Amino acid sequence: MARRFDGKRLVIASHNPGKVREIGELLAPFRIDITSVSQHGVPEPEETGATFRANAELKARAVAEATGLPSLADDSGLAVHALGGEPGIHSARWAGPKKDFALAMKKVEEALAAKGMSDRGAHFVCALALAWPDGHVEHFEGRVDGILVWPPRGTQGFGYDPMFLPDGHALTFGEMEPARKHDMSHRARAFADLVVSCFRP
Ligand code: IMP
Repeated sequence: MARRFDGKRLVIASHNPGKVREIGELLAPFRIDITSVSQHGVPEPEETGATFRANAELKARAVAEATGLPSLADDSGLAVHALGGEPGIHSARWAGPKKDFALAMKKVEEALAAKGMSDRGAHFVCALALAWPDGHVEHFEGRVDGILVWPPRGTQGFGYDPMFLPDGHALTFGEMEPARKHDMSHRARAFADLVVSCFRP
């Protein structure tokens, strides 16, 4: 049984305002005072883990220890099957210092072409870790499977969305209305699990 969250305050272990806002919206029904690490003057720790799960845990733990409040961290990325799961935990890094995802998608396409493989399967992963100041951690993970298209399609979403076509759909995440993507995304699935396990009365 997962430990229930019955506090009034939660710190999101991210300096990314978009991520903090999105998490705030997802947890709005639970009337929790949600803040970001930036508001507590705590630096986000370096992602030195070897997995999404480990990175989410180390971020949530560090922030819970530093603030004395429960903390929620998310770590996500795109795993390409023919590339042995890369870019994976390095998804943000493949876009370089300018966060250029047109470049990151091109690198993925070139790596696939270099392999000369016909397998274009990939999945997005979102790992969530909810850590308490006493060291307890709960983990949740969501995944969505699909294939990679080339050239990229659509201008919605972010990151690798324009080249990701979820299984059973005709539109890439870059072409879909955001609400449609949020219904089926890796992040939505991880959050649904978190909410059922820790937040629902
Ligand atoms: P994080 O902030 O370290 O978790 O980095 C996540 C990276 O994975 C982002 O910069 C994106 O490149 C990629 N990513 C994660 N989720 C998505 C998504 O829903 N669509 C497209 N790219 C994503």
